[in-house]
Amino acid sequence: MTMIQATDAPSPSKVLEGRLRARTATIGIIGLGYVGLPLARTFASQGLRVLGFDIDADKVEALNSGQSYIRHIPAAAIAGMVDAGAFRASTDYSAIRSCDAVLICVPTPLTRHREPDLSYIVSTAEAIQSHLTAGQLIVLESTTYPGTTDEVLRPILELSGMKAGADFFLAFSPEREDPGNQSYETATIPKVVGGDGEALRMACILYDQIVPHTVPVSSCSTAEAVKLTENIFRAVNIALVNELKVVYDRMGIDIWEVIEAAKSKPFGFMPFYPSAGLGGHCIPIDPFYLTWKAREFDLSTRFVELAGEVNAAMPAYVVERLAVGLDQRFRKAVCGSRILVVGLAYKKNVDDMRESPAFKVIELLERRGAVVEYHDPLIPEIRPTREHAAMTGRKSVAWSPEILAGFDAAMIVTDHDCIDWQELVDNSRLVVDTRNATKAVRRNRQWIIKA
Ligand SMILES: NC(=O)c1ccc[n+]([C@@H]2O[C@H](COP(=O)([O-])OP(=O)(O)OC[C@H]3O[C@@H](n4cnc5c(N)ncnc54)[C@H](O)[C@@H]3O)[C@@H](O)[C@H]2O)c1
Repeated sequence: MTMIQATDAPSPSKVLEGRLRARTATIGIIGLGYVGLPLARTFASQGLRVLGFDIDADKVEALNSGQSYIRHIPAAAIAGMVDAGAFRASTDYSAIRSCDAVLICVPTPLTRHREPDLSYIVSTAEAIQSHLTAGQLIVLESTTYPGTTDEVLRPILELSGMKAGADFFLAFSPEREDPGNQSYETATIPKVVGGDGEALRMACILYDQIVPHTVPVSSCSTAEAVKLTENIFRAVNIALVNELKVVYDRMGIDIWEVIEAAKSKPFGFMPFYPSAGLGGHCIPIDPFYLTWKAREFDLSTRFVELAGEVNAAMPAYVVERLAVGLDQRFRKAVCGSRILVVGLAYKKNVDDMRESPAFKVIELLERRGAVVEYHDPLIPEIRPTREHAAMTGRKSVAWSPEILAGFDAAMIVTDHDCIDWQELVDNSRLVVDTRNATKAVRRNRQWIIKA
């Protein structure tokens, strides 16, 4: 790492710019999860040296031995960058000193009281602070409320005695990674970057090395707001189609048919799809970061709250549709029925179960006395979670016509491409489909209830 020393030495920004453009810079990435790991891979593939940092020693060991713990990142890709000397992971923050740029990709969940939990950002900042070196670029990538970089991160880093803008560069660049997306990946998604003066310019040069183009905005707060706006847009539109689904269903109209036709309009309409509820680490959580911050300005975020309310009601709605189906078709109660939940992941083709509505569906069904099992080829066993600790260790049931026939009903929560929907319908007495997964099923459609 280059220190600011003599007055005739090149300026810190000149040095950093040169190293970034020449791709001789070392990039530190803190938090090697769904965001940090693809980012590390993208920088390494562009010839930059990457040092990864994580507090999870098992992850660090797995990566250094060339293994992957994220389904869509092949082990061969990890092994390739480790073997080439382009990537190394560590739990020891002292190597931060040797990095030219440090990108923070740690979690930003909500507390039990649904308020922003910045503890991961704070502990990361404290850990960086003691190793901060003059001329370094620090970029926060974690999704958070406007003001976090300047009001939370900056003061902790400045405890080092160095000043942002004078001694080191500080910026915010939101992550837009969409795991499982076949059309876009880190390297093909434009990157929004916010910061002041030279920090903004340095951060743009950094990301220009790996993405098609960067989109500079005037401050860290603006860049933080861009990310929240994108995710609130999704949360609100998903809530809208979920609400329309309930209304149209009562009218005997199929919401999926409506959306399919509506999206033929070449302008002014963008399709969103209903489901058993919101899931994932972002959309159910991030909007409430803004809600919390808005209170400081005596403002409420009514769209965010309403969308949260509508989306949170979906698990109960689809469970009720199942109950009515059992009742009307078989004169059977939910209590004592055997129900198969198909798909545990929060969305198709990923192995990520964070905040999945499937958990809520299972809990609601079990509270009513049903015997519930799940099938998800991508999640063979439920890993420990803070909110659903009691479900830890439950295993995905095997898939066969005999096993399917042993259930009173199946509820499709996630529409993984690898599941044979015709086989499910052929061997089930009742299928409640919350994703329109059975759209191509031809036989036995009378057993399907769309919900
Ligand atoms: N997953 C997504 O698709 C996605 C998309 C866009 C933005 N984001 C945002 O990116 C951020 C990270 O999300 P993620 O999905 O990658 O989370 P993740 O849980 O998959 O990964 C976070 C990693 O950080 C590590 N970690 C926690 N505290 C640490 C510390 N103090 N020092 C070093 N490592 C630490 C954890 O062990 C974990 O490996 C969040 O703010 C999230 O909202 C996520």
